[in-house]
Amino acid sequence: MKKIECILRPGKLEEVKEALNQSGVHGMTVMQVMGCGLQKGRKEVYRGTELTINLLPKVKIEIIVKDSQVEEVIALIRQSALTGQIGDGKIFVSSVENAVRIRTGETGDAAL
Ligand SMILES: Nc1ncnc2c1ncn2[C@@H]1O[C@H](COP(=O)(O)OP(=O)(O)OP(=O)(O)O)[C@@H](O)[C@H]1O
Ligand SMILES: [Mg+2]
Repeated sequence: MKKIECILRPGKLEEVKEALNQSGVHGMTVMQVMGCGLQKGRKEVYRGTELTINLLPKVKIEIIVKDSQVEEVIALIRQSALTGQIGDGKIFVSSVENAVRIRTGETGDAAL
């Protein structure tokens, strides 16, 4: 299993959620977060000026999927979150050792 964490523009949440839902991803956790990337939260890069960090509101979605779903889910997120402008967000993928559905005790892929 893999954990896909994606950080998006808040305005793209509905579109991404819809795309995930249509592709059979049902479990997800969504958080409102603050963050910045390369531009330190600015809309433009100022050359030669040291700027403090400015955090912008973002949305983070965490999805645990079967290994076989990773590439498809990443493609769907990119398609639905892309504007082509700076600040479109980022996707991080990491390994997950196990999952347990509390109600039934199912583990691994069956618990997703
Ligand atoms: N290295 C990182 N570690 C953790 N979170 C990050 C990292 N880079 C970006 N983020 C998160 O992703 C959000 C969006 O990042 P953003 O899309 O601006 O990335 P970028 O690297 O600056 O690319 P771009 O040049 O397209 O803007 C940030 O506000 C932050 O929450
Ligand atoms: Mg950026």
